[in-house]
Amino acid sequence: TRSLTILGIESSCDDTAAAVVRDCDVLASVVYGQTSLHAAFGGVVPEIAARAHAEKLDHCVEDALAEAGVTLADLDGIAVTAGPGLIGGVLSGVMCAKGLSAATGLPLIGVNHLAGHALTPRLTDQLAYPYLMLLVSGGHCQFLIVEGHDTFQRIGGTIDDAPGEAFDKTARLLGLPQPGGPSVEKAAKTGDARRFPLPRPLLNQPSCDMSFSGLKTAILRARDGVVSEKGGLTAQDQADLSASFQAAITDVLIEKSRRALGIYLAMKPEMPAFAIAGGVAANTAVRDGLMALCAELDTDFVAPPLRLCTDNAAMIAYAGMERMIAGEQDDLTLSARPRWPL
Ligand code: KG4
Ligand code: ZN
Repeated sequence: TRSLTILGIESSCDDTAAAVVRDCDVLASVVYGQTSLHAAFGGVVPEIAARAHAEKLDHCVEDALAEAGVTLADLDGIAVTAGPGLIGGVLSGVMCAKGLSAATGLPLIGVNHLAGHALTPRLTDQLAYPYLMLLVSGGHCQFLIVEGHDTFQRIGGTIDDAPGEAFDKTARLLGLPQPGGPSVEKAAKTGDARRFPLPRPLLNQPSCDMSFSGLKTAILRARDGVVSEKGGLTAQDQADLSASFQAAITDVLIEKSRRALGIYLAMKPEMPAFAIAGGVAANTAVRDGLMALCAELDTDFVAPPLRLCTDNAAMIAYAGMERMIAGEQDDLTLSARPRWPL
């Protein structure tokens, strides 16, 4: 088959990203984060995000093309995240892609952001369908059986918050820096995970569903208990609270992964594989636990490199490529969708 070179554009949350992917080679992947813009507000502000995307997208695309050493004339298509996400940001990306498509005549391909994450192990490891995916980030937490580029079976997920959001909230409560995941993980290294018994919500229910909002309340209470007793938190208190919190999240993710793997393995896949994506996949405790689980159940464990696990445009370019190979494309009527379940 002919080689395909696709430009990808992503702007659905707080990262402005563009990438060039040729078949399974990432020629360039540029990500401009917005963390500092939102730092003072304790969360992503949609209006600020949309304006920053609109300002930066053109440069981001130019940088990606330059880094890849290609021009628009070398491309076969333009893939763009069309949802789900913050509508202003998604619109910025879709407008940018439409402009490029109209100017060049290149095919325009709308991509579901979640499909981008879910197909990443095919880009990085040429993983064959079907495989089980745990997508776990600041905004998402779900188990998917990935059977084709547009065939996903969701077999469970969070019924409230995502774990990354809980890590970020915990860091804020403990006075640790954002993003919370890495700073809580670092503090947890010297902590005692048994000092604060925190709940493992839904752990004993048979489904693959999870809940993390109660955990945020529990860590708040545990912190307030220490503060009212001693008037503040020592570094050891921070470490123990972090370790206790991380252990609770990890226990839930591992136990629910065991159930999800049970459902997936019952399909009798020829080469069973469990892949992970999303920012929380960076967590060593989570990764090690899942790796051990997969070893126990004779299942391949696939963890793409972190820069392709977190939000990026290479995954969008790749997912667009799979759509193109399947003979699918969009036109200038492509619309931005704030909600778009797989
Ligand atoms: O996938 P991502 O970059 O963006 C979306 O949420 O879409 O994920 C970011 C999330 C943040 O909540 C961050 O705190 C969390 O992933 N995260 C981690 C770690 N590194 C990033 N959570 C736990 N442990 C980590 N090492
Ligand atoms: Zn994402």
